[in-house]
Order: sequence, then C-alpha cells, then structure tokens
Amino acid sequence: MDGNGRWAKARFLPRLMGHHRGVEAARKVIRACSDAGVECLTLFAFSSENWKRPEEEVSGLMSLFMSALERESAALLRHNVQMTFIGDRSGFTPGLQEKIRQVEGMTDTCTGMRLLIAANYGGRWDILQAAQRACQQAADEGTDIASLGEAGFGKLLSTAGLPDPDLFIRTGGERRISNFLMWQLAYAELYFTDVLWPEFDANCLQQAFADFANRQRRFGMTGDQVSGDTNA
Ligand code: IPE
Ligand code: MG
Repeated sequence: MDGNGRWAKARFLPRLMGHHRGVEAARKVIRACSDAGVECLTLFAFSSENWKRPEEEVSGLMSLFMSALERESAALLRHNVQMTFIGDRSGFTPGLQEKIRQVEGMTDTCTGMRLLIAANYGGRWDILQAAQRACQQAADEGTDIASLGEAGFGKLLSTAGLPDPDLFIRTGGERRISNFLMWQLAYAELYFTDVLWPEFDANCLQQAFADFANRQRRFGMTGDQVSGDTNA
C-alpha cells in the first residue's frame, strides 16, 4: 500500500492525512476482496524499515493502527473475516500488542476471508526466523536439518498453513518488492500501478484481477503443457 505521503503532499496536507485516507482505502479493498471471494488478503501496513521515518510520522501511524483496530473489528466479525498479524510484534507497545491479540482472538473462529496484516514485517526477517526455528527444532528433536524440505520450511514461516499469494499488487508507481513476502511470492503474478494507495478503489482492484486473469501461469512448464495442448 504505497503512495499515502505523496497523495497528501500533492494536496498540501500533512503526510498523516494521507495515512488516514489510506486506512479508508484499506477498509474498502478488504470489503471488495471479501465480497469477490478472495481466500486470503495480505496488506503490508508497516515494514521493519518504516521505523526510520520521522518520529512524528511513526507515532501517528501507531495511533492510527490502534484506532483502526478499535473501529473496524466489529465490521470484520460481521463479514466473517479472520484477521491475523504477521511480523515482529514485540516492537509494538504493550497496549497495541494487546489490541492485536484481542482482534485476533475475536475473529479466530471466522471462516470467511483470511486477512493478514503485515506489521513490523520484513521478508528477510521471516525467512531468518524460520531458519532459526528450524535449527532449534532439529537440535531439540535430534533430527537432521538436511531432511527439511520446502514444505517443512514453509510451515515455519509466518504464513504457515496459507497458500502462496497468486497476485501481488503494488500501488504508487514503484516497481519493487521492498522486502515483502520474499519466499512466498516466488510464483506470484506481479502487478504494478501508478495509482496512489488512497485512490485505489474497487474499480482499480477489478482492473488488477482482469490483468491477472490474462496471465498464463506456467510454474516452469511450457505453455502447451499448461494449456493442455497434447499435439504440441
Ligand atoms: C505507504 O505510503 C504507507 C506506509 C508505509 C505506512 P507512504 O507513506 O510510503 O507514501 P509515499 O511513498 O511517501 O507517497
Ligand atoms: Mg512509500
């Protein structure tokens, strides 16, 4: 979700106003995805690198997370959305950690869309923590780390049990992954749009879905194999 700051700046507004509008955009996109039958949506809300921003912006973002969780949890429940946080939550204040636990607990029996909020998240952090746990497990159980396969390793990532993303959307004109789900995005279709996040709406989402529908996903095979053309 990129472009909040530039959206605000273009309107001579403080950056935090852009983040406020960003929360509104997120709310609408969550709703649209849930209505469209998306199985799992992950939003990159705050990266492990975002702490480097000016202190005023960081604290503004933290209070925004808190108020958004307070305001939106009932609606999530109503729409049967199960919300989970991924990332190093120990970086947040005890109050915010408690709120996160509360919303996770409140929605943990929801059977609709899975909503993952990546907060204080980094793709390299995720791979590293999984590797450390893999070593620890092997040492504890006396097993050979060399026997750990990709599936086993995937179970140690923060997205354990969830399918890999099919579609990655980045708004705001940048063409980068920026340390998002590094392992999980291996076969994702990448979609970049210049639309700034506060202006990304259900219509933009439909455009991304339409673009995705035109991709041929080969997973290393040939185009003919995938299309089932046996005469080729
Ligand atoms: C993304 O918008 C939101 C967060 C990182 C929380 P930015 O704040 O990165 O917006 P730009 O890139 O400055 O426009
Ligand atoms: Mg940005």
